[in-house]
Amino acid sequence: MKKTTISVIKADIGSIGGHICPSRYLLDNVENYIKENKKDLLIDFRISYTGDDIAILSTHNRGKDDSEIHSLMFEAFMKGTKAAREQGLYGAGQDLLKDSFSGNIKGMGPAVAELEFEERKNEPFVFFAADKTDPGAYNLPLYLAFTDPMHCSGLILSPKMSKGFRFDIMDVSYTDADKIISLNSPEESYDIAALLRDPERFVVESIYSRSSGEQAVSVSTTRLHNIAGKYTGKDDPVMLARVQGNFPATGEILSPFHIAPYVAGFMRGSHNGPLMPVRFNTSVSFFDGPPVVSCAAYCVHGGRLTEPTDAFDHPFWDHVRGKVSEKAIEIRKQGFFGNAMLPYSELEYGGIVDKMEKLESRFKIKDDKK
Ligand code: 13P
Ligand code: 13P
Ligand code: MG
Ligand code: MG
Repeated sequence: MKKTTISVIKADIGSIGGHICPSRYLLDNVENYIKENKKDLLIDFRISYTGDDIAILSTHNRGKDDSEIHSLMFEAFMKGTKAAREQGLYGAGQDLLKDSFSGNIKGMGPAVAELEFEERKNEPFVFFAADKTDPGAYNLPLYLAFTDPMHCSGLILSPKMSKGFRFDIMDVSYTDADKIISLNSPEESYDIAALLRDPERFVVESIYSRSSGEQAVSVSTTRLHNIAGKYTGKDDPVMLARVQGNFPATGEILSPFHIAPYVAGFMRGSHNGPLMPVRFNTSVSFFDGPPVVSCAAYCVHGGRLTEPTDAFDHPFWDHVRGKVSEKAIEIRKQGFFGNAMLPYSELEYGGIVDKMEKLESRFKIKDDKK
């Protein structure tokens, strides 16, 4: 049987009323472009948004990093950018760092996560999209879902998971190429934790089952501001995860999201805020946040997608959202101070650099001997 590839490619190409959400017209333009130009490249596709980011989820048989698939998505985002400009949307074309396609969409701005596999008889998977944060936001939920029986009971209960998982972790501070370490859980889980502790530098790129060797997870690891060398928006990340059987159950992957860890992002991509699990197509609001994550659960069969079911649309998550709002308000009480704002190296604005330089020249060294 032919292998199935799931590709999700997302970009912020413009939004209504600030960095809030794309317009209907913009979404329709992206969708229609794919419909009209997909020829026989795609088996199926779905368009969705989370905050101001549009995701194109597609299925095909062409494998990862296929230049024709990536080109189709890039051109759809170019078409969308044109529509965004027509409407005068804010940040039109924000995530497109190049104006023509060159082989692979990675490094051109949009975020990419892809999985290629031989379909099981039943093939459930989940698609996460986050806004107002960066790829390291998934570090803690992934660590807990794949190494900790407090969240993943399958690690104790299912023989298919007893060998644990391999984590491929990227050092995103290295921008010349992908720099990756592979570490095995459970034996090396303290080493995994030591890296994932620092989500601005070390990011889970993928996770593999050690019993079958199959890939379970793919995370988009772009760091836009490392690529562009200046602030162009946060690298709002997408993630695909296969679930059940050799992999954690859907509920086990969702479990750690109730913690809503403080992540980098929020207003001007320069603060810390709790990662709030939200329904599909949710915009952002308070202080351009809080950072949000949505989860669409699907089954795929012969590359055909079912309709999505909204994993965070449940009374349980309403309760969590109330608590997360409280966490957001608590950290906002200290405004720019200390942990509420990101360290100097992570601030997304050049303005502060100029300010610090000016102030530096006004410091005087006191001569105590006089
Ligand atoms: P599977 O082993 O079929 O994935 O089922 C696990 C389960 O019962 C989910 O809660
Ligand atoms: P986006 O990265 O989602 O465009 O947000 C940028 C921002 O500065 C929000 O305040
Ligand atoms: Mg934006
Ligand atoms: Mg965004």
